Amino acid sequence: MENADRDAVVVAGSGLMGVGIAAVSALAGNRTVLFNRLGEKAERARKDALAQCRELLDNELTTPEAAGRAEELLSGTSDLEGVLPRARWVIEAIVENLETKQDLFAWLDDRLPADVPILSNTSGLRISDIAAKMKRPERAVTAHFWFPAHLVPLVEVVVGDKSSIDVAVAVRDELERWGKAPVLVKRDLPGQLGNRILQAVIREAVNIVEMGLASPEDVDRAVKTGMGIRFPVWGPLEHVDAVGIDLCASVQDTVLPAISARTEAAPLMRDLLAEGNLGHKTGKGIYDWSVKDMNALRQLRNDFIIHALKKIRASKSP
Ligand SMILES: NC(=O)c1ccc[n+]([C@@H]2O[C@H](COP(=O)([O-])OP(=O)(O)OC[C@H]3O[C@@H](n4cnc5c(N)ncnc54)[C@H](O)[C@@H]3O)[C@@H](O)[C@H]2O)c1
Repeated sequence: MENADRDAVVVAGSGLMGVGIAAVSALAGNRTVLFNRLGEKAERARKDALAQCRELLDNELTTPEAAGRAEELLSGTSDLEGVLPRARWVIEAIVENLETKQDLFAWLDDRLPADVPILSNTSGLRISDIAAKMKRPERAVTAHFWFPAHLVPLVEVVVGDKSSIDVAVAVRDELERWGKAPVLVKRDLPGQLGNRILQAVIREAVNIVEMGLASPEDVDRAVKTGMGIRFPVWGPLEHVDAVGIDLCASVQDTVLPAISARTEAAPLMRDLLAEGNLGHKTGKGIYDWSVKDMNALRQLRNDFIIHALKKIRASKSP
């Protein structure tokens, strides 16, 4: 098949992430095929992706033209092999299991021409390991969208041990054209980029609660209303330069020895785990979810992201 006939982005896996990635791809003008092993689930996922397109349209984060076109461009299938002759990109968003992903990548590698990138949305696995059974691992890179993928701009493009840097750069550039905010992560290390920073924040947040320095409510309040409210337009490194290297170095000398440098999960987490208190899904974790409303919190988060995106786009901030 000629490359010109390859016009489809294939999203393999149609759960929480696959749906959002497919919505973003179709809104960017790509023929997009959502794969699920079950036909009715693929069709359900297509409808969910279109609902996400409508949410973006209702909030003026896409145009009526793009949303209308997305409806024509999006389809669902339970026949992955059948759609591969049209694939110019495959984004894998199936279950987070190394062996399952390895097998899918090897299977795709055997069936796709060498110039078709095969991307993984893995949040925790190394693309170097996912690609271990491929004959051409250079075309495998991570493209880690953040949840909810149709709203959060960041995508981490991670270069594996055997990935081609040219493939990674081309993936980054294409995602930029899709309207996302891709970043290039040059080595395949645990936590990619964003989770390394998020885990440092969570480590200290839990540490503060364990020390009895403040309540969970006040820790979350401090992050949400202090540093967090600036973060959409004010990065930590911009902050360093704004306050001055001299001041920052002195604060680091004072504060770093006093904060957590723990290299494993905190006792507070291990205790909750042992009690079977896993957070919202069991009704109790750090908070008591019989009195706190997760759905309201999720809605608030999405509303805030939409509001922030509008402001950022209006100000053309990076
Ligand atoms: N949920 C998140 O917040 C989040 C964020 C970023 C990345 N991720 C990553 O994205 C991937 C998908 O996560 P999700 O939250 O969408 O999961 P999910 O459970 O919602 O969806 C998984 C999908 O994979 C399909 N699937 C499972 N096993 C399969 C197999 N053997 N072959 C083909 N399809 C199979 C399921 O039918 C389902 O459609 C994971 O790698 C996860 O780590 C998740």
